[in-house]
Amino acid sequence: MQSFQLHERATSRVADSDTQQYNVKDWQKGYQSLNEEFEYFIESVEGEIPVDLEGTLFRNGPGRLDVNGQRVHHPFDGDGMISAIAFSQGRAHFRNRFVRTDGFLAEQKAGRILHRGVFGTQKPGGWLANAFDFQLKNIANTQVIYWGGKLLALWEAAEPHRLDPHTLETIGREYLDGVLQPGSAFAAHPWVDPACQMDGGAPCLVNFAIKPGLSTTITLYELNPAGQVLRQHAHAVPGFAFIHDFAITPNYGIFFQNPVSFNPLPFVLGLRGAAECISFRPGHPTQIVIIPRHGSEPVQIIPADSGFVFHHANAFEQDGQLFVDSICYPAFPAVEPNQDYQEVKFSALPPGQLWRFQLNLQTRQVQSRMLEGRCCEFPAIHSSHVGRPYRYLYLGAAAAAEGNAPLQAILKVDLETGDRQIWSAAPRGYVSEPVFVPRSPSAYREGLPSETYDGAEDNGWLLTLVYDAAQEQTNVVILDAADLNRGAIATLHLKHHIPYGLHGTFTPEYFGKA
Ligand code: CO
Repeated sequence: MQSFQLHERATSRVADSDTQQYNVKDWQKGYQSLNEEFEYFIESVEGEIPVDLEGTLFRNGPGRLDVNGQRVHHPFDGDGMISAIAFSQGRAHFRNRFVRTDGFLAEQKAGRILHRGVFGTQKPGGWLANAFDFQLKNIANTQVIYWGGKLLALWEAAEPHRLDPHTLETIGREYLDGVLQPGSAFAAHPWVDPACQMDGGAPCLVNFAIKPGLSTTITLYELNPAGQVLRQHAHAVPGFAFIHDFAITPNYGIFFQNPVSFNPLPFVLGLRGAAECISFRPGHPTQIVIIPRHGSEPVQIIPADSGFVFHHANAFEQDGQLFVDSICYPAFPAVEPNQDYQEVKFSALPPGQLWRFQLNLQTRQVQSRMLEGRCCEFPAIHSSHVGRPYRYLYLGAAAAAEGNAPLQAILKVDLETGDRQIWSAAPRGYVSEPVFVPRSPSAYREGLPSETYDGAEDNGWLLTLVYDAAQEQTNVVILDAADLNRGAIATLHLKHHIPYGLHGTFTPEYFGKA
């Protein structure tokens, strides 16, 4: 097993030329639009798809990065496209469909960009055409979940879109039995609490919504396995907040209110997208907002070091303390109006790194330490350990141990021993978020050897999409989560590429062609 030295500080940046394992032109090719929609059994497979891997990987991400050649300003403004890779009995079926949002359909019909994007996409015609236009397009491009018999495409600033899980056809906007209103925010980062204390140990889905302003309202939602909202409560937090993700434990929802400010004027005047009006306030603390999920305990807000977090890996309660593991950046990576996202200079930016925050709710003290200095993002864990103590963490990571770079590898971190394993697709492969799939108990029924179904936390597979710049196509790669050193168990070659995506989830139900 490979192990890496931990770096206490992020200062030792190395010039790209010394360690660079990627080619920026290769990386850029993964951001071409995919305009076609496909449906086929994947016939080109290296290795073997495990016969006990049964279910469907749903993924979401911007599928269209331009409208008739008019490029969006940032991939976060690209229209959501769902991919479904369904596994059964050693075979895999692929399907992709764009979410038919109102904005997608209207722009498809017009053949040009009609809406401003949060991340700086402007309608043609300069600032005059964009000023005082606050109609944002719900682009449904961030996450996709199957919960309560509904497949939902999520985008944090507005309501989910519901899709047919068998065909990926868009059914319409989803209001959770009237709990959400038209235009209501609903975050793209729900967690499933595997054994909710309030529900007699049944799982529940926990999500939030942010309404930013001079003071920000955070609403927590908890849904039962039938998809009904069981609990919802709203809390006001002082100041503006830009919060993409959160973490849960059995008792708390935990939010990092990063030190950013919002100046809406350039947005109002049509000069900038809303996200381009967010600026980082260096030296100001991150406020950790701890909201009790139930009971009458007050909300606590505890200051921690300055920094910016998009994603949390997990949180748990232990020995009267609260632990939160997160991917941290020294600052918010500003979105600039005149900058082409494809021309980003990786070496000029600091990498995301894994940190652990230890909070004492009595003394209100926070200790933090870096767990992993390698550039990383998109954490994944075993679903049974959400909100609980855990040992194994999987991440998308850079191929080189130091510096900032595109994600080309999957890293496994053993938080107990400090051991690391890495599987790399460098130099020409670019990975997406890994999704952990626990090995199903059906392995036992199928008479497979006992070591394949024990309850070990890393007994399962990692699924990730890898863009292969040499072929200009995307592969679905299956890794053995217990041993990344085995290499890919199976590499499934799609007939096309899939633009770099954001998030996805796995459900044990098969939704491919029968
Ligand atoms: Co995210």
